[in-house]
Amino acid sequence: MRPRIPTQPPRPEVQAKMQERAQKLTKRQYVRFAFYKVDPLWRRLPAQEQAEQKRELLDVIRTFNRRMLLRPYSLMGTRADAELLLWQISEDPQPFRELATAIACTRMGSYLTMAYSYFSQTKRSLYEIRTPDGDAEDDEERLILDPTEAKYLFVYPFIKTREWYQLSQHARQGMMDEHIEVGRKYPSVRLNTTYSFGIDDYEFIVAFETDEPSDFLDLVQELRESSVSMYTLQDTPLFTCINMRLDDALDALGGPPVAEVIQPGEEREVWVEVCPLDELGPGETRTVFVEGKMVGLFNVNGELLAINNRCSHARGPLSEGQVDASECSVTCPWHYGKFDLRTGQAMDGVVNKPVDTYQVEIRDGVIHVGTLVTY
Ligand code: FES
Repeated sequence: MRPRIPTQPPRPEVQAKMQERAQKLTKRQYVRFAFYKVDPLWRRLPAQEQAEQKRELLDVIRTFNRRMLLRPYSLMGTRADAELLLWQISEDPQPFRELATAIACTRMGSYLTMAYSYFSQTKRSLYEIRTPDGDAEDDEERLILDPTEAKYLFVYPFIKTREWYQLSQHARQGMMDEHIEVGRKYPSVRLNTTYSFGIDDYEFIVAFETDEPSDFLDLVQELRESSVSMYTLQDTPLFTCINMRLDDALDALGGPPVAEVIQPGEEREVWVEVCPLDELGPGETRTVFVEGKMVGLFNVNGELLAINNRCSHARGPLSEGQVDASECSVTCPWHYGKFDLRTGQAMDGVVNKPVDTYQVEIRDGVIHVGTLVTY
């Protein structure tokens, strides 16, 4: 392994400039939670028709995989009024509209009703969030969602009372500290907070990921006793969603199975078509979504390299970092951690964990990015 040679951090004035540039560059993400329900009439269609409709819908939804982070979940068996969730994350809301239209134009789309829809954005928190050691947590991290493979997702919209907003920042921070303290007792539960003030009917849309539903239940019950809970106006409806591959989530809706049979632990190569080679010249970068992960694709003097776009330190956007072609590295724009673009290894700075690398191939003049997926 390449030895780590510590270098001097950038001078304070250079750091300030890099920070300013990073803040301008780092885009807030748009988020959509689209909950669908199937018309009972669809379940009475001939089996062959159901299977064909599911395959058509699968093909249409999959074409959006490279344009946004798209996570399917099933609510069959957990909720009566919604059956399928498509959790969508993008730096631009345009693909959400295009996906909604594309789904509506399929044959199965005409049997799908939109049971609930929530639209929100990521944002830096107004409150200081401290680590257990008392250090301030990096709140740039909140600009970027990076869903895990957790089995369950709990989603609900949230509104606080107007009295809450009349309290001083100091008073609110005190209550939030208590709230955060309770949350720390449940490390298996991961929170994704998004904001919908003015762009949808609620103030926040929150999504908790965990493999342990009972931990989430205990957390929510304990939070009812915290002072901040007095200022909750609405925190329903609450959706319990089960993480699934898209074909499995469609099969869960009914009809004959169309999902590929993949054994647990089986490995498959997944390739995504990115763009024609001549659209990514030397020195240029691009982001693409592969199997639910944002991947940074770099053309370094004609060599195409792809790594996970989320820095292993605090999710900084590596495709917006500084590339050093001479050593084939990228420096994260947030805290200057440096990574080897060929191996993903941490080379310098605050980072000590590598990032995943991806395969890149040119097929008929088109760039493809691939990865090995273990199911
Ligand atoms: S997010 Fe901190 S170095 Fe990348």
